[in-house]
Amino acid sequence: MGKARTLAEPFRIKTVEPLRITTPAYREEVLHKAGYNPFLISSKDVYIDLLTDSGTSAMCDRQWGAIMQGDESYAGARSWERLESTVKELTGMPYVLPTHQGRAAERILYGILGGEGKVFISNTHFDTTRANIEFTGAKAFDCMSDESLNPETELPFKGNLDIEQAENLIEQYGAENIGAIILTVTNNSSGGQPVSMRNAKEVRALCDKYGVLFVLDGCRVAENSYFIKHREPGFEHKTYRQIAQEMLAFADAFVMSAKKDALVNMGGLLTLKDAKLAERCTNLLIISEGFATYGGLAGRDMEAMAVGLEEVFDSDYLHYRIKSTEYLGRHLHEKGIPVVRPFGGHAIYVDAKKFYNHIPVHQFPGQALVCDLYVQGGIRCVEVGSVMFGKYDEAGNHIPPKSELVRLAIPRRVYTQSHIDYVLDVFDDVIEEKQSSKGLKMVYEPPFLRHFTARFERIK
Ligand code: F0G
Repeated sequence: MGKARTLAEPFRIKTVEPLRITTPAYREEVLHKAGYNPFLISSKDVYIDLLTDSGTSAMCDRQWGAIMQGDESYAGARSWERLESTVKELTGMPYVLPTHQGRAAERILYGILGGEGKVFISNTHFDTTRANIEFTGAKAFDCMSDESLNPETELPFKGNLDIEQAENLIEQYGAENIGAIILTVTNNSSGGQPVSMRNAKEVRALCDKYGVLFVLDGCRVAENSYFIKHREPGFEHKTYRQIAQEMLAFADAFVMSAKKDALVNMGGLLTLKDAKLAERCTNLLIISEGFATYGGLAGRDMEAMAVGLEEVFDSDYLHYRIKSTEYLGRHLHEKGIPVVRPFGGHAIYVDAKKFYNHIPVHQFPGQALVCDLYVQGGIRCVEVGSVMFGKYDEAGNHIPPKSELVRLAIPRRVYTQSHIDYVLDVFDDVIEEKQSSKGLKMVYEPPFLRHFTARFERIK
């Protein structure tokens, strides 16, 4: 056997976007002006942007070519017909609604299914999913086993929904009050962990037993299929696309932010099996997004999306995608950086509470690490811990969430392995200066979603 080869990117680069190299002193000044919150930094001052994998993909030459063929007709555009047939073939669902991004599809669907007294059940609701549900007055419950919630356990499908907890909720609130069960694949908020086919099948059975609607939030459904093929017995010989189709066949509705696995910078989808529900959703779509054959999209966006939805299932692409995320995770682990395992599909999560154990949680160890990565190397990422989810008790004391994580999300096809090697080098510097790293004090906080605009000062 030959020695393992470098996982070289399965593409070559035809267009480049120059990046600016800055100094640590310059970045310290930038960060200071931004109140130590990287959301408030201009992207021109960022070298490697790992803030999100959403809408940040590089499109391929076929997608750019398709863009030139966009048909911008108001009704019945050729580009719409192309997208519609691609999506119908993938999902097996007869009703396809285009939206400008994932949360628009959520607003339409949950606006109709939700309302006071309704209850939604998910493995983990993504923030915008929960917000769209709670905005209608309904409740949203996450159902995960303790085993899956523990960042240390090595399980193949840590994104699964806990069926027993879900059934208890249905019994407690009454089947007639359940808006839907939403299975999010991969499970973004729990570390990009996959969901098994078996779990999807069990959710189907549970929905059948109680007459509940099954919604698949599948913005990373291709990445999830990769994990099924390589981890779940019986799927070794199926294609990634067949696996996705099999999972989609279990669901009654599909919501997708196309900004992830459709490899585009903007777009979303809502697909449905039921004609009556589709009619109600279409009415809302026309009122709020656009006519039924474009939703919130231009013809050229729909062309690019149709190509992306085919290309994302390419086996070379998916192998590269999952293995390159794993590459970052594995090397961080080898350096002794505590990371959530097994590695997810779209991001690596650093356990900042463990890594920066000299900084107490009320001084935001995750945010401190985010700031250090920016100053040391111009890397931008996001804290998923006390800044994002911290609360206060009645006396105004900080109540921290269970974990203090830092998410390093990987944009699709954007950075090469040497960029990731650079990120790893920056971590070496961060390890070296770890003990001198200081916590932060929050000096401004808005009432909602505070992580976007909060401002901090370094503790002296
Ligand atoms: N569902 C999931 C599982 C998501 O991860 C996202 C977005 C959405 C829905 C909403 O889609 O942004 O197109 O409106 N996740 C991004 C992220 C923002 O950074 O993880 P959208």
